[in-house]
Amino acid sequence: MSAPNRPYDPVGVASLEPEATDAMVAEALVAIAAANDLDSLKAARLAHAGDRSPLALANREIAALPPAAKADAGKRLGAARAEVRAALEARQAELESERDARVLVDEAIDVTLPTRRAPVGARHPLTTLMERMGEVFIAMGYEIAEGPEAEAEWFNFDALNVPPDHPARTMQDTFFVGNEDSGVVLRTQTSPIQLRAMLERELPIYVVAPGRVFRTDELDATHTPVFHQIEGLAVDEGITMADLKGTLEHLAAAMFGSGVRVRLRPSYFPFTEPSAELDLECFVCRGESVGNPEAPCRTCGSEGWIEWGGCGMVNPRVLRAAGIDTDRYSGFAFGMGVERTLMFRHGVTDMRDMVEGDIRFSEAFGIEA
Ligand code: DAH
Repeated sequence: MSAPNRPYDPVGVASLEPEATDAMVAEALVAIAAANDLDSLKAARLAHAGDRSPLALANREIAALPPAAKADAGKRLGAARAEVRAALEARQAELESERDARVLVDEAIDVTLPTRRAPVGARHPLTTLMERMGEVFIAMGYEIAEGPEAEAEWFNFDALNVPPDHPARTMQDTFFVGNEDSGVVLRTQTSPIQLRAMLERELPIYVVAPGRVFRTDELDATHTPVFHQIEGLAVDEGITMADLKGTLEHLAAAMFGSGVRVRLRPSYFPFTEPSAELDLECFVCRGESVGNPEAPCRTCGSEGWIEWGGCGMVNPRVLRAAGIDTDRYSGFAFGMGVERTLMFRHGVTDMRDMVEGDIRFSEAFGIEA
C-alpha cells in the first residue's frame, strides 16, 4: 500500500520565493558586470541563464504550482530571466565593441613608419656610362680589352714612343710603384692596352678598353688623381683617318644625340701620327655663342667646341713594336676621359662629386642593376 500523496504546498518551493528570485537576479547581474572579457561573459551566461542555472531550475518548478500561483510566479520568473538576458546582451555588446576597438589599435599598421629593408644602393654613374660606351663599340663588332692598373713602364711609355726624357715620365706626373727605377707605374693612360692588344690578338684588331688611370694631380673641381679613360684601337688593312672620324661621330651621336658634330684639331701624341685633339661641338650652344657677345656660353667659353679626347693614326713605330707589318696594316686609336664625358652629358660641374661616394649623387642617375 502506498501512502497517500502529501498535499503539495507551493509556498514550500523556496526557489520561487520573490526574495530567492531577486537574489538570483542580483547574483547574475553582479557576475555579468564582473565579466571583463567575452570568455568570462560566456561562463556567466552558462551559470546564470543556462539550462542548469538557478533561474532555469526555478522555472521548472512553476509547473508544480497550483493554477492560481502559476501565473504570478511565471510572470515574476519571466521578468527575472528577461532582466538577466537583457543584462547579458548589453554586456555582450559592450565587450564586443571594446574588443573591436582594441583590435583596431593592436593590429593597426602605420604605413608611414620607415621600412627595415636594406637600401639597394645605386651603381656609380661612371660605371654605367663606361659600360654604355663599351656597348656602342660592341654593337660595331669591337671587343673589350683589359690591362693591369700597375703597368710596366715600358708599356705605359716606351712602347708608345714616349722618350725617356719626356716630362710626363717623372714623379711629378706619374705614380711609381716602389721607387722611380722599379719599372712599374700606375698606368697614366689606357693607351698601353693598345700594345697589349696588338701583342695578344690576331689581326685585324677592333678593341675598346675602358679603365682606371692615375696621375699625381690634387683633387679639385676639375682634377682627380684617379680617373677613367676609354681607349679605342682599330688595326686592319686600309684603315684611314676617315674611318676614325666616322667612328668618333658615331660615338658622339650615341652619347650626346644625333647631329652632334666632332672636330679633329691637329695636335701631337708620340704614339699617333698624324695626331689630333678630338673636339665635340658644344652641346649647350651648338656653336651659336661664337662671335656673339649677346649670348655667351659658359660651357665652351664661347669657343663653340669642347675638348673631349685625343686620337690619331697609330704611329708605325708603335705598330712595329708589336711586330705588325706596316706595309699591309694601318690603324687608328683614340682615348677620352669618362669623367669628362659624364660632365658633358649630365652637367656635372665638380669632379669631387664623382669620387666622394655619396649615394645621393649616384641615385640621381637612376638605380641600375
Ligand atoms: N692617352 C692620351 C691621354 O691620356 C689620349 C690619347 C691620345 C689616346 C691619342 C689615344 C690617342 O689613343 O690616339 O691624354
